[in-house]
Amino acid sequence: MKHSQKMQITIDGPAGAGKSTVAKRIAKQLRLFYVDTGAMYRAIAYKALQSKIRLEDEHSVSHLAKTTEVILDHSAEGTVWCDGENVTQAIRNPEVSRAVSTVAAYLGVRERLVELQRREAERGGVVMDGRDIGTHVLPDASLKIFLTASLTERANRRWLELVKAGKEVLLEEVSHDMQKRDQQDTEREVSPLEPAHDAVILDTTGLSVEEIVAKIVAMAQEDGR
Ligand code: DC
Repeated sequence: MKHSQKMQITIDGPAGAGKSTVAKRIAKQLRLFYVDTGAMYRAIAYKALQSKIRLEDEHSVSHLAKTTEVILDHSAEGTVWCDGENVTQAIRNPEVSRAVSTVAAYLGVRERLVELQRREAERGGVVMDGRDIGTHVLPDASLKIFLTASLTERANRRWLELVKAGKEVLLEEVSHDMQKRDQQDTEREVSPLEPAHDAVILDTTGLSVEEIVAKIVAMAQEDGR
């Protein structure tokens, strides 16, 4: 498959807005690489938990990020490698979800991962999702989307995903964790979650994945972006 060389589509937004589901489909349709930047932050959080590093220890966590190899495998559907270990499933655990916003707030962690993310974008056209992609990682992207939805709908979607994956979790717990994480991601000093000034804001409440994908693909194709 030949990948489009220039197109850059950024998809930012809060947890559970549907970013990764939508981004994967768009990547497939438009023959772009999909880069899941949240998975990179999750891999560092996972590694910190495994290494028994205190999450509050910014210096050690930042050092860990600089010495940990995180690889997103584009050939196998979304496989995430962390120092040679396949962590694709493990990084979705609630324990990692709870830890990730703390490590993602550290400048040292962000600098390291942003460097890797920009390197991914040099390989060809990309759909990249995260929190600061349109504002910071790829500020010159041709199409920037900010996906959002009501907290109730976002928590429901995430809870269903976890239940389908065989995890026993309460909806209230998922909703509470999500709200806390969004607050941390929005209020942090370095590259907080916010729409880029030139982003298209799409509220996905009540929309199907197909509808959202169709809207974004149409925008991307509009002027051959
Ligand atoms: O998209 P996700 O839920 O897998 O992201 C996990 C966490 O990583 C999220 O709470 C915030 C952080 N993150 C970030 O700070 N910047 C990004 N570009 C992507 C994710």
